[in-house]
Amino acid sequence: MPCQVRIMPTPSSDALAIVDSSQLKAPGDARHFDYRDGSGRTGRGVLLRVDARTLVAFDDHCPHWGVPLGEDPSRLFDPRDASIVCSMHRARFDPHSGLCHTGLCEGQHLTRFQVSEGPGVGLVIVKRSGLF
Ligand code: FES
Repeated sequence: MPCQVRIMPTPSSDALAIVDSSQLKAPGDARHFDYRDGSGRTGRGVLLRVDARTLVAFDDHCPHWGVPLGEDPSRLFDPRDASIVCSMHRARFDPHSGLCHTGLCEGQHLTRFQVSEGPGVGLVIVKRSGLF
């Protein structure tokens, strides 16, 4: 079986990362990505498909204890109420606003990122949103 290597273009100066979303086809499909901002800060984000038209991205950092939301990104989304669920204490977040609506950090937000179309098929650009 041939090995496929995908060359990622260099992100623009305000981009955190360019991420391959081509495998995120169904609601709840998600992947981690590493990012680096303009000041050199690094972190890990999550890119998640909410529905056929919507991809969201956020910092993989729960506002309750400041830990990753979960090691398996495919288990972060609960389709019953379209919530992101932290694996540690099950806090539930709205994927569009990042607001914790149920759980131990109610009223706090995930750090949401902007997602826009990238420079190639299936690629998206992730940037800071400036909101949270
Ligand atoms: S660490 Fe996420 S709900 Fe407690």
